[in-house]
Amino acid sequence: MKRISKLKSLFLLCVTAVCVLNACNAGDSDHTPPSQLPEASGNVLPATSDPDAPEAPAASSEPQAPEQEKILIAYFSWSGNTERMAAYIKEQTGGDLYEIIPLTPYPTTSYTLWGESAREERDNNVRPEIRDPLPASTVAQYDTVFIGFPIWWHTAPMIIGTFLESYAWTDEVNIYPFFQGASNNNSEYYTNSMNFVRTCAQGAAVQEGLYAAASNTSAIDAYLAANGFTE
Ligand SMILES: Cc1cc2nc3c(=O)[nH]c(=O)nc-3n(C[C@H](O)[C@H](O)[C@H](O)COP(=O)(O)O)c2cc1C
Repeated sequence: MKRISKLKSLFLLCVTAVCVLNACNAGDSDHTPPSQLPEASGNVLPATSDPDAPEAPAASSEPQAPEQEKILIAYFSWSGNTERMAAYIKEQTGGDLYEIIPLTPYPTTSYTLWGESAREERDNNVRPEIRDPLPASTVAQYDTVFIGFPIWWHTAPMIIGTFLESYAWTDEVNIYPFFQGASNNNSEYYTNSMNFVRTCAQGAAVQEGLYAAASNTSAIDAYLAANGFTE
């Protein structure tokens, strides 16, 4: 009897020892030292069990391509020709369009009836107000700005001055003027318009302009290619 109770005690001792060891191992799994955790990486996407899910992109040590340049195409158009040009430039470059609209619209009647008032604006270097002007924080997101307009009285309409003088430009912003008129082959109009844009866009890198009929898509194509926007 004594021997049986001795064996019983031994058996209980063994069971207790096994339990204690298991308990210790279970506790360890919560306390793995940091050095033994899988290496942390911000680029690793969480694993997925969905077999149809797209594979995570392979981590690469290649340098990232520089951010694509952001293009704004701002334009003023009274009868739609500059607007067509702007739409074509958007199509070719993928830029964002913004129409400069006067707070007080110009009449829609023949400009022989009201054109004199636009000449007075030019002579007095007036800055007509813009309806819903773009916030400076929005314009600051663009490093390329196309600015389009019709020739008015041998130069740019004064509202182009309002737009350009609304922002603090730096030479990191390239400005590309594009314009057209009843005549599209007048060096004086070109020089006047470019001088006006340069004066109003102080600080920006104003590039040579595009002066061609709105329907002259080959001239627009050549200009965009020469400035590296298209091939
Ligand atoms: C007030 C006014 C003045 C203009 N002055 C000239 C000018 O000096 N030279 C010219 O070639 N065209 C002149 N034009 C014609 C416009 O430039 C031409 O019709 C242009 O295609 C209009 O562009 P839009 O449709 O974008 O407004 C003038 C038009 C207006 C309304």
